[in-house]
Amino acid sequence: MKIWVLLGIGIRAVLPVVLSVCMCSCSPQNRVHLDTGANARIGSGQDASALHIYENELARTPPMGWNSWNAFHGDIDEQKIRGIADAMVALGMRDAGYTYLVIDDGWMADKRNSEGKLVADPNKFPSGIKALSDYIHGKGLKFGLYQDRGHSTCMRLPGSFGHEQVDMDTFAAWGVDYIKLDSCYAEINGRKSSDDFGVFKECIVKTGRPMVLSMANYTDPSWAWGGQEIGHLWRTSFDIRPRMSSVYYCADTSAGDRIIHPAFNGLWQFAGPGHWNDPDMLQVGNLKTDIENKAHFSLWCILAAPLMAGNDFRGMSETARNILTAEELITVNQDPRGIQGYKVYDDDGREIYNKPLHDGTTAVLLLNKNSEPANITITWDMIGLSGRQKVRDLWRRKDLGRYSGSFTAENLPQHGHMLLKVGSRGKPLATPDPVPLEQYAVTQEGATFLSDLYYIWKRGEAPRYDKSFDGKTIVMNGTIYDKGFGCKATSKIMFKLNGYAERFKAVVALDPSYQGNEAVNFRVRNEDPIGPDSLLYDSGKMTKDTPAKVIDIDVRGIDCLILTLQGKEALGNWADAQVVVSN
Ligand code: GLA
Repeated sequence: MKIWVLLGIGIRAVLPVVLSVCMCSCSPQNRVHLDTGANARIGSGQDASALHIYENELARTPPMGWNSWNAFHGDIDEQKIRGIADAMVALGMRDAGYTYLVIDDGWMADKRNSEGKLVADPNKFPSGIKALSDYIHGKGLKFGLYQDRGHSTCMRLPGSFGHEQVDMDTFAAWGVDYIKLDSCYAEINGRKSSDDFGVFKECIVKTGRPMVLSMANYTDPSWAWGGQEIGHLWRTSFDIRPRMSSVYYCADTSAGDRIIHPAFNGLWQFAGPGHWNDPDMLQVGNLKTDIENKAHFSLWCILAAPLMAGNDFRGMSETARNILTAEELITVNQDPRGIQGYKVYDDDGREIYNKPLHDGTTAVLLLNKNSEPANITITWDMIGLSGRQKVRDLWRRKDLGRYSGSFTAENLPQHGHMLLKVGSRGKPLATPDPVPLEQYAVTQEGATFLSDLYYIWKRGEAPRYDKSFDGKTIVMNGTIYDKGFGCKATSKIMFKLNGYAERFKAVVALDPSYQGNEAVNFRVRNEDPIGPDSLLYDSGKMTKDTPAKVIDIDVRGIDCLILTLQGKEALGNWADAQVVVSN
């Protein structure tokens, strides 16, 4: 859904450039309707100041630190972690801003103690977690710890489900400052993700200790159901790997249309001080070349992504250290205005991102992902500027001069890029308008066709709006449908009902163009893409010969609805998909 505009100088701009004429300087975050029971409970009777601190004082800029997973996976012990803490101080990482030292999965014993409390693996951490936490705090660092909201962690160690308060109390007693809360095995908790994470928020606030909550929910859409009100950061991607295809995939979950409708131009409107999109931890220092390490770091900086380093600081090369501590890049990432950078240009792998800063200047990334070298030109109208503008190269820490109308980064090799600061200090520059709620959520009485709304999350191929998946009119059992979606199995699409709709209705069948033998299920879920408790409707197996089925179900109170076409390859239609709110 890219809309290309010829700018007369041989470059093309994406939709936001076109929209830049109606830019606004309002806050990017859309505080949408949220009705998690947990959130409501927190307000009543809990320590108001602990709640205030949790909601207003933590993670005002993207968290920075180090996490053990990318470097060591489960192969951790207290010697290694102390060594990392020492290196964070000795190599200047702490002073550059990397303050959280987070121990990921693999730290605990495989059983709780007789009081039902978590204990450290006695072989790996013989001195216990409190002693390690003290050591880390003694270095002027903050301490973070991993846990999982399911019955087990991803490494099958004891998870927190059913032990939420005792575990958060234990964490608080150990002096934890940052909790990474994972989601393995959480689908059988019988709670929606929003409620589940909300329970942890409540337990954390109850401890009275300010602890950052990092929600590891893979690609599942925390921003859609109000993650902003629950935790401080949330994952947007599956696990990052030490290769560029993975780095670009992760970045694209946050800045591209991999998991949200292209009209949003990425997830930028859902981020801001205290709530960040997290495309996963850094692989800087673990990639093959410096050019790759730098491109990765620049992307995370411009996207206001959390900067959780994932390389072994103890044996880090001088170049890896220089990249991670590049002061002018970190300043862009940590800019107090907290705008997540967004794409203003995308020509098949030649990309430009823009991040307006608090001081009136803006950070601009020009990146060539392709194997052929490229020139990339930014014109000032893409970023709401005109005339002559100052340009500074942030990697080289050098003013390049004043440029009229545009700037060209020349001969960029694959993964080559420039990160610039453009403009002069003054009134902060405008951002594009965020997509208004009524374009992606049910806000009106009567019937709303879901194909009149942007989906807020998807997995698998994007649906075709008001057409079959291969672009034809939707026809099933001889009936023509003007509205609905054509999908290819397996696909999941989420719509925000906003707790406002009463009934969901649709007519479903495989598309007549599909003549294969695969069977599919049409499933409707409440918020969570998997797990028995979220299932509201299941068509049962349907093949090309199964007549269309009519869905008409109660969806009162539901915030986010997922339509799943489960199967392999087959094409199916959600014809006339709509929700109804009585007048
Ligand atoms: C999941 C998370 C990773 C890491 C591992 C630990 O895969 O996404 O970041 O925490 O679990 O087992």
